[in-house]
Amino acid sequence: MTIDQKAIEKWGGEALHIRRDGEAAAWIITAVHDTQRGPSAGGVRMKSYTDLAEAVQDAMNLSAAMTMKFATVRMPWGGGKTVVYLTRPLDAEARHELLLRLGDHIKKLNGQYYAGPDIGTSSEDMDVLHGVAAPYIFSRTAATGGSGSSSVPTAYGVFAAIRATHKEIYGNEDLNGKRILIQGMGNVGSFLAKLLHKEGATILFSETNPDTVASLSGKTDYRYVAPEDLFQTPCDIFSPCAQGGNLNSDTIPRLLCKGIAGAANNQLLDPEEHIRLLQAHNIVYAPDFVCSLGGAMGITLMEGDGIPYDEVLERVQNSIGEALRGIFSMASTEKLDVVRAAYRYAGMG
Ligand code: PHE
Repeated sequence: MTIDQKAIEKWGGEALHIRRDGEAAAWIITAVHDTQRGPSAGGVRMKSYTDLAEAVQDAMNLSAAMTMKFATVRMPWGGGKTVVYLTRPLDAEARHELLLRLGDHIKKLNGQYYAGPDIGTSSEDMDVLHGVAAPYIFSRTAATGGSGSSSVPTAYGVFAAIRATHKEIYGNEDLNGKRILIQGMGNVGSFLAKLLHKEGATILFSETNPDTVASLSGKTDYRYVAPEDLFQTPCDIFSPCAQGGNLNSDTIPRLLCKGIAGAANNQLLDPEEHIRLLQAHNIVYAPDFVCSLGGAMGITLMEGDGIPYDEVLERVQNSIGEALRGIFSMASTEKLDVVRAAYRYAGMG
């Protein structure tokens, strides 16, 4: 790979820490985007990539999204993210050893960066990291004194975002009978489906993992949508809860939804271009970093500030609802697209 000077300049972050892990043939990349509000925090994403350049770019993009999440709700944290780029599959022991070395890496960052779980890592993994890198680890299991998975507060936040988006479109928050299409039934998507189902919404879901599809096949209340039909399935609100970059010039013209609100990070492949395309198609877009901030907000409030779980879930939902109402109204009064309005709302644009 070549170091892309332009891409790093465009990112505008504070530091990139790149560590080659020879034993696991992996790369550890920690992107510290912004520590003006406080130390950086963000999850550890562990997966394979095409090459190091793609992994570094993902770490940069994800860390910038974390800055926006904390700024939106005015919390004293900055944006950071770690990507562990696996170049080959690891057995349980090799993965465990890699986690120990990742812990050492985080410890050496000396509080510049606090880690939590993300795609490819779990609260159990945070327990392992904590053994080496305490106190810089969030979201450990309840058994070891943590507050568990960040997926639950994330899902509550997306739920609030869907209600606020529905209100922007239809003038009310009543989801009864409304069709919500969830892309990705992982930890966040499946919990979100339960919350929506309780409100009487009709759940359509798409999922690429055959085991997850099989485990949901008994749920006759949920309707499965094949991945190739995903973008042209009629629905009220589309909720992307898988990987990013899915909203682009190929997919947006096919969409048959009225609004979008989902947990995935960095949904718009090119934010400036694709927010305009969504507008041209009359689709109300709830900016991803607002929809998905409930995990980071919830866990840092519980573990950093000792606020009880139920109160945190309330606060997450209220904050996201309030932020989206503010952003939608700012967008219309100041004639801005919602992404610009969201930056301005967060004091970052
Ligand atoms: N995965 C979370 C996110 O993308 C990151 C996180 C979890 C940060 C828990 C802090 C604590 O927002």
